[in-house]
Amino acid sequence: MMSSVVTRVPVFAANWKMNKLVREAPEYVERLNALLGELYSALSFEVLIAPPATHIQSVSASLQGLPIKVAAQNCGTARAGAFTGEISPAVLKELACQWVILGHSERRHIFNEEDSLIASRLRAALEEGLNAVVCVGEVLQDRKAGKTFKVIESQLALFNSAKGAFQPSLLRRVVVAYEPVWAIGTGENATPQEAQEVHAFIRNWLSEKVSPEEATAVRVVYGGSVKAENSGQIMAQKDVDGLLVGGASLDPNTFAAIIKNGLKTRLPGAPI
Ligand code: 13P
Repeated sequence: MMSSVVTRVPVFAANWKMNKLVREAPEYVERLNALLGELYSALSFEVLIAPPATHIQSVSASLQGLPIKVAAQNCGTARAGAFTGEISPAVLKELACQWVILGHSERRHIFNEEDSLIASRLRAALEEGLNAVVCVGEVLQDRKAGKTFKVIESQLALFNSAKGAFQPSLLRRVVVAYEPVWAIGTGENATPQEAQEVHAFIRNWLSEKVSPEEATAVRVVYGGSVKAENSGQIMAQKDVDGLLVGGASLDPNTFAAIIKNGLKTRLPGAPI
């Protein structure tokens, strides 16, 4: 069994997807920082903003000196080369981007990205020194057929190559995001219990296949119709270490409320 003492730093990510104009970014950052600034000095947690790639430079510039970090929504499989339309992880680093989201369900289902491609992107990102949020999640049909764990297990297998190709300690730079596809953008979130069940499964899998130490350290975050009304209950689950928020993150006031409600249950007694 895993230790029940939670030492993992909560992480909250705003996935803007293909939303917002570049010129809208600075105001968002300013507002979010105004809402979270005091909490940052009192508590330990991380916040990521994942804008479209075209916005990264502007968001990075606005974030200078702030504890909020910028994340890309995908990255290429190599530093450079003939890969039209791809974005090099080395360039992301150059733009002060420290994180990248990989294997998002929209990449898997709309653009047919498969586990082998996601594993190559992950390897390139980690080799470049980026941190990665790797997404997994089942479609409704799989859940209804009782195949949720089977699907998650097959997606997690991309970490097997992590074991061979690079040190398990690199997994410390990975956050696993459980995003049930049926909950993304539908308004229907997984219940806190459903989320906990899959998060525990992911942690156990990592414990068995990578190492118990890494599994205890790795943060597993939930995504799918997170809002200010449900973030507290979801974050109260012991294996939920953060949230990956889509639609509700587009408004900095809502995103800040999601974070605060989540931290309240995660860090009971904290001055929030
Ligand atoms: P929604 O929060 O809009 O459901 O999107 C979740 C998501 O895909 C975050 O990556």
